[in-house]
Amino acid sequence: MSKIRAAITGIQGYVPDYILTNKELETMVDTNNEWILSRTGIKERRILKGENLGTSYIGAKAVEKLLKKKGISPDEIDLLICTTVTPDMQFPATANIISDMVGIKNAFSFDLMAACSGFLYGLTTASKYIETGNYKKVLVVSADKMSSIVDYTDRSTCIIFGDGGGAVLLEPTTEEVGIMDSILKADGAGKVHLHMKAGGSVKPSSHETINAKEHFIYQEGQPVFKFAVTNMANVAEEILKKNNIKGDDINWLVPHQANKRIIDATARRINVPLERVMVNIEKYGNTTNGTIPLCLWEWESKLKKGDNLILAAFGGGFTWGAIYLKWAY
Ligand code: UT7
Repeated sequence: MSKIRAAITGIQGYVPDYILTNKELETMVDTNNEWILSRTGIKERRILKGENLGTSYIGAKAVEKLLKKKGISPDEIDLLICTTVTPDMQFPATANIISDMVGIKNAFSFDLMAACSGFLYGLTTASKYIETGNYKKVLVVSADKMSSIVDYTDRSTCIIFGDGGGAVLLEPTTEEVGIMDSILKADGAGKVHLHMKAGGSVKPSSHETINAKEHFIYQEGQPVFKFAVTNMANVAEEILKKNNIKGDDINWLVPHQANKRIIDATARRINVPLERVMVNIEKYGNTTNGTIPLCLWEWESKLKKGDNLILAAFGGGFTWGAIYLKWAY
């Protein structure tokens, strides 16, 4: 019997309407368009406005549109995995909330937390369910409402992040397409450089934690940059070597969109020219879990069956990894 692989058979992104430009940020903190553009590559990012709207809203919008586009009923979904660092609530899982919002009734669902590498972790996990042969339709929803944890008085973080995300449908295939290989890594020692100080079980929310602004992203930009630039390039190179492929064989590099300089360094290392690198950081900034699905969504019409894609990410945790996949449609 031929091997069952998991193939992405549909993709849909969602970004909120509100555009927060560098110009508007100039009125909020001591920054300027030139600095943001040259240090990060970001021109603008999307912000989810409106009462009681969280990450589930972004995820549900993407899933609804995806199911409609594919002509699939919510009843057909077997499993929904949501990857996010900004869940609607600490519990229950945002995956369950999304399933309820879109009318998915016959599936189990759970959240998975791997920060900016969440989509790679989610896709790899989902592919294992598909490969058993017991699950036919699995959704991976990767989204974040980063504006809910950004301190808009901190110029070192507020210029980077934005809201948005996407969903992919995975189905089994016996053709030579789909997820071919995955390398995932983690190093908890990275916690000191990138985390949220309070609101968890170690330091529950209190008046003191709120006054000390401990419910926002804490990031030491330079050390994170150094780890990101080295590890993302290393893991991309590693997956190429492991699968005996070269830069010339790659149709698209799909990197996490944290900083244009990190993207360029990764592309250089594996010899993929920039015209074959998906980059939309200028429009959306760093949407954490959302970046890679948003790229795939925007490039969907350019992708061809059999195209070789390398997905690569680095993020809080630290977590990082790369996936080699052959586009399936
Ligand atoms: O996705 C999750 C993983 N995260 C990442 O991969 C992010 C990695 N880090 C980065 O992308 C970059 O470190 C940042 C974009 C966060 C910062 O860029 P940087 O080139 O590392 O800047 P820096 O922190 O070294 O700061 C350089 C200078 C400092 O001024 P002095 O000390 O040289 O006078 C900062 O105070 O730039 C100043 N600065 C700013 N100036 C204008 C910092 N933020 C700003 C700002 N506008 N927004």
